[in-house]
Amino acid sequence: MLAHSGPVGTIDTLWWVMFVGSAIVFAVVVALLAVGLLRRRAIPPEQRRRPGPGTTFVVIAGVVVPTIVLVALFVLTVDALPKTSPALGTTRLAVDVVGREWFWDVSYPSNGARTANEIHIPVGVPVDIRVTSADVIHSLWVPELNRKIDVIPGQTNHVVFDARSRGVFRGQCAEFCGLQHAHMALYVVAEPKAKFDEWLARMAAPAPPPANADLERGQQVLLSSACEYCHRIAGTNATGTIGPDLTHLASRLSLAAATIPNTRGYLAGWILDPQHIKPGNRMPATNLSGPELQSLLDYLESLH
Ligand code: CUA
Repeated sequence: MLAHSGPVGTIDTLWWVMFVGSAIVFAVVVALLAVGLLRRRAIPPEQRRRPGPGTTFVVIAGVVVPTIVLVALFVLTVDALPKTSPALGTTRLAVDVVGREWFWDVSYPSNGARTANEIHIPVGVPVDIRVTSADVIHSLWVPELNRKIDVIPGQTNHVVFDARSRGVFRGQCAEFCGLQHAHMALYVVAEPKAKFDEWLARMAAPAPPPANADLERGQQVLLSSACEYCHRIAGTNATGTIGPDLTHLASRLSLAAATIPNTRGYLAGWILDPQHIKPGNRMPATNLSGPELQSLLDYLESLH
């Protein structure tokens, strides 16, 4: 398998060793069971309960061999653990990820950039992903980059993402956290350092001001509705922090924690009836006229 990061190669090898080891043990046990069943028919009933040389075989095959196999697999697992957790001293970039019902709040402490459901990292740079939760226990898992990491309220856990190749890797919440657990995904975008730096600087900048009267109307629709209580758009009066940051919404790959693609049609459907797409999420439906909705969509689509 082509590993996208060092830890993944280790996890991959460990998985195959476990799988092949288990398969061999299972095959031997089934073979012995078959032999036992077949031979049992051949033994006369009065001889069946006689103790004999079988006892030695049971002690060796049933106690000694499993002990050796389990200890060997345990040692391999213990050996793999530190390889999935490179020393934090080697990381040169930190990303804060807060799990919320049901999305990922992402920020970069180096320059204050805040986004949601999308983590960008430079290829070849070990990144310290610091995770915590604002509500219940979640688990962050990007299988192509590293192991799962528990996302626990009141505690910060670390996992290192060290992408070897550029690409978009899907991550998923891996701990049942309520109704929309399955719709709590995210993307990790690994890109060349220069492209990443450009992206990070753009994310830290405030939203572009409305460039024409239509976008101005769209911004007014947003600021005069309930949106601003939950969402933040840097550079405007919208400063809510309960929902995903919308400052550069148009630049993202997905909406609603990788539930739907970030297109105008899906965005309109989401604004008008979010409970239809993701029942139980915190966002209420918005009652807008046709022209208001179109201006709002124009404005949100201008937030690059
Ligand atoms: Cu968050 Cu499952």
